[in-house]
Amino acid sequence: MTNNSDTSGKVVDKKYFVKTYGCQMNVYDSERIGDALEAEGYVVTADMSEADLVLLNTCHIREKAAEKVYSDIGRIKKLKLAREEAGKTMTIGVTGCVAQAEGKEIIRRAPVVDLVAGPQTYHKLPTLVADAVAGKKTVETEFEIENKFTKMPVATRAQTRSRGVAAFLTVQEGCDKFCTFCVVPYTRGSETSRSVGQVIDEAERLAAAGVREITLLGQNVNAWHGLGPSNTEWGLGELLYKLAEVDGIERLRYMTSHPIDMDEGLIAAHGELASLMPYLHLPVQAGSDKILKAMNRHHTRDDYLYVIERMRAVRPDIAISGDFIVGFPGESEADFEETLDIIRQVGYASAFSFKYSPRPGTPGAGMDDQIPADVAGERLQRLQALLNQQQLDFNKNCLDSEMDVLLEKPGKREGQLIARSPYLQSVIVDRSVGSVGDIVRVKITEAAPNSLVGISA
Ligand code: SAH
Ligand code: SF4
Ligand code: F3S
Repeated sequence: MTNNSDTSGKVVDKKYFVKTYGCQMNVYDSERIGDALEAEGYVVTADMSEADLVLLNTCHIREKAAEKVYSDIGRIKKLKLAREEAGKTMTIGVTGCVAQAEGKEIIRRAPVVDLVAGPQTYHKLPTLVADAVAGKKTVETEFEIENKFTKMPVATRAQTRSRGVAAFLTVQEGCDKFCTFCVVPYTRGSETSRSVGQVIDEAERLAAAGVREITLLGQNVNAWHGLGPSNTEWGLGELLYKLAEVDGIERLRYMTSHPIDMDEGLIAAHGELASLMPYLHLPVQAGSDKILKAMNRHHTRDDYLYVIERMRAVRPDIAISGDFIVGFPGESEADFEETLDIIRQVGYASAFSFKYSPRPGTPGAGMDDQIPADVAGERLQRLQALLNQQQLDFNKNCLDSEMDVLLEKPGKREGQLIARSPYLQSVIVDRSVGSVGDIVRVKITEAAPNSLVGISA
């Protein structure tokens, strides 16, 4: 027993700090990691230099994201040395997708790192952390069949810290699609779904903690499937109907979806379920069939447009959001023009767009005809100019309309609140319209590229 343990063997007076990179799934995982550490007696700190344990929850999706981790480790090393000079310690761990992809190579490249733990090993973190704190270099990147969340402490406290009245809930993880540019199937493993019971239980806990809006997360969230009552096979649509019955949950969203998994049940839910928000994040990546095939996307440009058409038939006002990659190997100017064209046909409310980044171990990295960075950079600029214009147009279209917004948090200026529109826009409102957690009707009076302004309607 050391000074930092109580009689139950739990650590006392130990502080932790988690830095999150990458996607919403990492945001969710970081909260669950926080729950697991707090169950062991750790207390969160906002000041990294105060932390006995620093975890970097990393992203491997593009080279820049992965390299940022190493420059951050260099900076954190200085904090660790300063603590050691003052007679204290700091244990440094790398979790997330870089941990999975690079494993012990991380410790070779950055010997200051004590712990490496992949995304499917978080239920073992208490033991892994204890080993690392005891001075043992620890690397764990096994994939397990059973979902880690069944073995982790239930989520509530930490999760509700992040977005307050709006929370994430991971229902699906991993990917079997193997797009030729993407590391996710290698870093997150194959597709798994959490059970209906687990999801409903977590949603009820979130509701009890004051959450009003839940965003279901998954790398391919619409590939979620599970067993409903009397062993009927459920898809995401059925799960959404069930979640809509949870007392206190007023709004539902889900992301990210793959076009080939948009089934009729899910599309129908958008026409019938009032709490399902009119927003769909549906990446297409590229507009040319030749490139979609080379990307191994399993769908054509027309397949994608047909999903959008059916979606708009049941929910005409739906906001469509997407992801795009420019400069994939073999992309000609004509292929790129087809991407601009599909963007014009769809009309996006928002989007994320990236220059192709060759990732080690993916088929794309070895393809002939890699596109020079300056060509890809110039295409990205043109694509983003179009997407930015569409986002502004979408926002301007909301002027003078009335919508229900969820009051989420205090705004930058005194007396303001930030609210969330059904279409996932930020809406700035006066504090007098209500309290955080309320859903209020506002009239939109101003529209900027990234936000709206509303007044009580
Ligand atoms: N599961 C989601 C998103 C995965 S990653 C899906 O299937 O769409 C998020 C986005 O990062 C992708 O949609 C893609 O646009 C982008 N991305 C993934 N790998 C990339 C790479 N190697 N280079 C550039 N962008 C990439
Ligand atoms: Fe990556 Fe494609 Fe899977 Fe999305 S569907 S996570 S882009 S491999
Ligand atoms: Fe990045 Fe892993 Fe998410 S690679 S985008 S953190 S699934």
